[in-house]
Amino acid sequence: MEWHEEFRSLFPALRDRIYLDIAHHCCPPTPVVDSVHAFLSSLSRTGGSNQVPNEAVPPVRDKIAAFIGAKPNEIAFIRSTADGINIVAQALPLQPGDEVVINDQDHSSNVLPWLALKKRGIVVKVARSQDYRVPVDSIAGEITPKTRVVAISHVQHRSGFRCDLKTLSDLCHGRGAWLVTDAIQSVGSSAFNVRELGVDAAACGSYKHVLSTVGSGFVYCSEELLDVMEPVYAGPSSVVRGNKDTGWQVEVTDRRDARRLEAGSVNEAGALGLGAGLDLHFKYGPRRIQERISYLASKTAKSLREAGYQVVCSTTPGEMSGLVSFKVDSAESFRKHLLASGICASTKDTDIIRVSVHAYTLEWEIDRLAEVVAGYKR
Ligand SMILES: Cc1ncc(COP(=O)(O)O)c(C=O)c1O
Repeated sequence: MEWHEEFRSLFPALRDRIYLDIAHHCCPPTPVVDSVHAFLSSLSRTGGSNQVPNEAVPPVRDKIAAFIGAKPNEIAFIRSTADGINIVAQALPLQPGDEVVINDQDHSSNVLPWLALKKRGIVVKVARSQDYRVPVDSIAGEITPKTRVVAISHVQHRSGFRCDLKTLSDLCHGRGAWLVTDAIQSVGSSAFNVRELGVDAAACGSYKHVLSTVGSGFVYCSEELLDVMEPVYAGPSSVVRGNKDTGWQVEVTDRRDARRLEAGSVNEAGALGLGAGLDLHFKYGPRRIQERISYLASKTAKSLREAGYQVVCSTTPGEMSGLVSFKVDSAESFRKHLLASGICASTKDTDIIRVSVHAYTLEWEIDRLAEVVAGYKR
């Protein structure tokens, strides 16, 4: 059995469907389900007194850090990508008149947290895309001496366009701005190393390519960013001094500890699932997984083009991801057509179908997709 077939056997949902929709939601693999189940059943048998929760979560922080090239103290657990972006947006020392650059392709989870800053007098500028690409030049054109933040998804949810974060971070740092990224469509699918890419902050939910569940994820903030961040929430993990008898002092004792961004207990079951998802990536090899995804995505784009469809994802080297989108007349009826043939995909807007592959996808599944789309009466 080849490694990717063994990997595939861990996903029960793949036995009876062609699942090309991990960009929407993964079908959690058995080891993730088992780890969450084992944790909860241990808790239900013995209660919290055996300290399992306290011992189980810290290693997950280490795993996340190792996976994205960060330090464990630069990682905090979050509920969702939007939660992580909000935490960063609200904690940065931004003043009225400061500018933030977003773009017109990003998911609302990386748009609304920035727009919410407008009520504090922060100016939000929107870089324009061209053919679903968000070129670095277009962002550069919006940067002024007042720009403090550029926020962008590493991989765009609609088109699968992958941003050249390294060039963008060099540009941002040269102009005195921080680069904040939404990494949910990238971590676990495309190479994502915070040091190599130079990102200052990144948020990622764990229910897509990380291979785990909704309700958990992580935010990365570089030590330099942590130095200047003032979290909105205060709680036991805010690193406070004192106690109820001596009096509390919400005084940061270790600025470079990202746990101060977490207000209270973390979603332990979610964190464990996240850790189990990353274990699978480590076991099968992040690079091997990424290379297979890249090969499968290119094959998918080629097949769709040959079937006469306009593929909207970029073909520029380095700009492709595991997400491949194409234009149709009516996305919803097309999606239903695919589903009737056992193929799960997403609609984007009213005229785009997005398919997304992972290392478990088989070549015959892409051939079948090509056959089904070719058979659709337009
Ligand atoms: C790029 C991107 N960001 C954010 C989200 C939503 O993430 P969350 O629900 O974790 O905020 C999605 C979901 O599809 C997405 O594709």
